[in-house]
Amino acid sequence: MSSEHDVSRRQFLNYTLTGVGGFMAAGMTLPMIRFAIDPLLKQGKGEENFYDIGLKESDLTEQPQKIQFVQKDIKDGWYTFDQKKEVYVFKHEGEIFALSPVCTHLGCLVHWSPEPPYANEFQCPCHGSRFTKTGINIAGLPATAPLHRYDVKVKDGKILIGNLHPRNNIPAVPPKY
Ligand code: FES
Repeated sequence: MSSEHDVSRRQFLNYTLTGVGGFMAAGMTLPMIRFAIDPLLKQGKGEENFYDIGLKESDLTEQPQKIQFVQKDIKDGWYTFDQKKEVYVFKHEGEIFALSPVCTHLGCLVHWSPEPPYANEFQCPCHGSRFTKTGINIAGLPATAPLHRYDVKVKDGKILIGNLHPRNNIPAVPPKY
């Protein structure tokens, strides 16, 4: 005896094959999607690597020292690589500063000048931008943002450098010279 709710053998096979086919398609497709977006999923987890730059806290002075170090295992999408970097490290009013030397105008490398005509400022050789000792851009010059600043911590007396951060909400400083 049959009713309108009975499922025919053909319908049963159709449903079963559609279900199994869909399950298999999902099994193949989901790993591919996961692989494609994997770098995005790993971003923003707040992980921070700190690098020993070979400088002790006791070696820090009030004068910025330029230190080179190698940042290892930088991840960009699926690529992992090492990169040589430079950082200016010093103490200022009891606080440790680690500044990127990359000019925020167009990316030339600034240098620290303890001597006149622009004593105690960072200067960019490319288009003349200048920055205070703490990396704040001098008003009226091409760079309109401060030098980026690294996170710093001290472990067992050694200076460790972490992530680099822009500082966009700090006003420019009027020129002294
Ligand atoms: S790149 Fe430094 S002033 Fe232009």
